[in-house]
Formats: sequence, C-alpha cells, structure tokens
Amino acid sequence: TSFLPDTSLDDLTPDLPIVVLTGAGISKESGLDTFRDPDGVWRRHSLEDLATPEGFARNPALVQDFYNRRRAQLPAVHPNPAHQALARLEAAWPGGVLVVTQNVDDLHERAGSRKLIHMHGELTKARCLSCETVVGHADALHDATVCGACDSRGRMRPHIVWFGEMPFEMERIWGALAECGLFVSVGTSGTVYPAAGFVADIRHRGMAHTVELNLEPSDGASLFAEGRYGPASLVVPAFVDELLGRL
Ligand code: APR
Ligand code: ZN
Repeated sequence: TSFLPDTSLDDLTPDLPIVVLTGAGISKESGLDTFRDPDGVWRRHSLEDLATPEGFARNPALVQDFYNRRRAQLPAVHPNPAHQALARLEAAWPGGVLVVTQNVDDLHERAGSRKLIHMHGELTKARCLSCETVVGHADALHDATVCGACDSRGRMRPHIVWFGEMPFEMERIWGALAECGLFVSVGTSGTVYPAAGFVADIRHRGMAHTVELNLEPSDGASLFAEGRYGPASLVVPAFVDELLGRL
C-alpha cells in the first residue's frame, strides 16, 4: 500500500473538519461490554444467532430478547469523560466535528454530541418489517409489537445493522472522510468493515492526519500516523485538550 507521506498534527488548521470513529471501547468504562475482549459479547453469545438476518428469521424471540436486554441496560449507564470530551471538541472546533459511531448505545447523544451518525443503528429505535418506518422505542420489543404507520400493522425489528446488511449513511460518511483534516479512531478493534477500512482510504488520499486512541494497538494500528494508548476516559480528554490548546 503506497501511502502518501505522513501528516502531523501541526498540519491541522482549525478550519479543517475532524471525523471521529468510535467503537465499543469508548463505552466500556460506562459499563457496556465490548464485543471481542475476553469478556466481550461475542465471547458469550453466538453472533450468527443474534446479529444476522438469518438468525432473526430462525428465532425472532431469541434475537428480540438479546436486544431487549441490551436496551434495558441503557438507563443505568452514563456517558464517561471520553464521550463528554468529544462533545466539548464539537462545541469548540471551528472546522466542525462529525462523530461516526459503530455503537448502538445513546451515550454520545446524552454527552451532548449533535453531529452524529450511528452507522450500525440504534438500540433505542425499531423498524417496521413491512414499511421500513423507523420509530423511537425505549422499552422491550415483542412479536406482538406492531407498526403504527402502515395498515399492514407490520412486525417491528431492532433498528440495528446485522452482519451482511448495509450500514447506514455511508455516502455521508465517505464524503466527510474525503474532506477531513483529522481522522481519530477511538475504542475499536478495526476488524469489522467498512469502518475498519476508513483509515486506509484516508491514508491513500494523504491529506489528513490519522490518530488511533485505544486501550491497546488494534489490528489496524500500523495504518495510523500515530497512536495513543490507555483507557478512553483518560486518553480522549487529554487528546481533546491538546487539540483545543492549539486554537
Ligand atoms: N478504552 C479504550 N479502548 C478500549 C477500552 C477502554 N476502556 N476497553 C476496550 N477497548 C478497545 C479494545 O482494545 C478493542 O480494540 O476497544 C476495542 C473493542 O473492539 P470490539 O469489541 O471489536 O468492538 P468494535 O470494534 O466496536 O466492534 C465493531 O462489531 O460486533 C460488531 O456491530 C458490532 O459495532 C460492532 C462492530
Ligand atoms: Zn409499517
């Protein structure tokens, strides 16, 4: 892979937009499990049964129950200093900040982030299997839950992107990646595409500085111009303070 010469943070000017990709690691210190750590979700549950359209078709009650449990956790968990630091960055950075999250929790919103894309969907929403209408849904989803928007009174599924399905708002994401001056990846293992490919796309373009903020180097660590490692609740606020100190 022929990467253009490394950029440094010194090349970043405040008029340039920042894109931040987040994964489960940013919510770990809020009390939500990651997926691939030793205590991760996919270490305890079958991804094929719970996060694929085929699994849902085979046993919808099992899948609804899995997402009902995860949805029910949300009121008891809270944004941590990493979520809050990203909201602070968005409020202060002249070029604008877009958070692209793979997470389906609502911690970025609750921390105050406004420019936010949930590329893998949201636990707090449900979608009609007949008319595709998406509605807010904070409590349990059951087979009996029917769509209020269409006369076929369709069944509702979690508004979550399962493996094999297309992530949401990819055009908007590619556009933001193409024009950002800084790409920051927080708390993701860099193993699930298309998010895992974002840093390589940016490095081929060569215009943006790329930083990985993670507990430990991810699979894609070598693709980033720099990495800073430790718990997100420490590393992200420190990095945001450094950025804001340059304004
Ligand atoms: N602070 C920062 N990073 C952390 C912390 C922490 N406290 N704890 C764990 N991490 C890091 C891990 O080192 C790992 O690199 O967070 C990453 C979590 O990786 P995954 O569990 O694979 O989660 P993620 O990358 O978000 O998964 C991507 O896979 O299952 C699908 O759709 C699901 O969005 C998810 C996608
Ligand atoms: Zn409907």
